[in-house]
Amino acid sequence: MQRFQQLNKISMNWDILYKRAYTPFSKQPKACIVAGKSGKFYAGVRVECVSFPITIPATQAAVCHCLSEGDIPVRLIVKENTLEQLDYWAKEFNLEVEITDDIANISCSERVVTVTEKETLPTLKKLLESAITPNSDFPVSALLFMGEKAVPGVNVETTDWTKGLCGERVALSKALAMGFTTFTSMAVHTLKGEVSSPCGACRQVLVQHLPQHPIDLYHADGTLSRHQIPDLLPFSFSSSSLDAN
Ligand code: THU
Repeated sequence: MQRFQQLNKISMNWDILYKRAYTPFSKQPKACIVAGKSGKFYAGVRVECVSFPITIPATQAAVCHCLSEGDIPVRLIVKENTLEQLDYWAKEFNLEVEITDDIANISCSERVVTVTEKETLPTLKKLLESAITPNSDFPVSALLFMGEKAVPGVNVETTDWTKGLCGERVALSKALAMGFTTFTSMAVHTLKGEVSSPCGACRQVLVQHLPQHPIDLYHADGTLSRHQIPDLLPFSFSSSSLDAN
């Protein structure tokens, strides 16, 4: 019996999900779940940034999680109806909003891929097909590694340009919502850019979560460059007065 219980997945509850939020500044965790048209569920948690406006709301994280997996969001499951951007995302995808305390029967998607170094570029290339880029037609793919396992991300754009997310931050917000906190490296690929290179906002976020880790940039011309993430953002913003710990 005990063995059976050990093998059984712990059922989901809001406490577990809220604890996965990265909110060292506000100390106010937030989370939600998006139900996809496929019947699968996708979690999103609030991911704060030391530069506050770069913070990813839980609603944005969950919708981008769903879209990045090729699914269509149909329902937003929340514990509280005061989440940031709730109205925006509900309207954007005509989502039904369900407020509930009970998510015990929900099993959220936790798709992680196993990728060796040799398989990294082919995996990133295939992943580009999942990018949602109606505005830019500029697909970006990212793999956030934990050893040989990785959480995949692609950029997601919506009708409001300011509410999309870069591939790098989609990968990170998905990984945090799945409960992962320790990462080993990231790999990024774009096909159209002369070089694959994370934007400033992504660098700020990556420096917080992979402060001493490498990033592999697979460029359009077939070359690869490896960098240390902090080297991509010298003199990056931080302040002890913002009380991150
Ligand atoms: N983009 C990324 O996904 N990562 C970056 O670091 C650079 C920019 C995406 C965002 C948007 O969907 C498109 O590229 C054009 O800015």
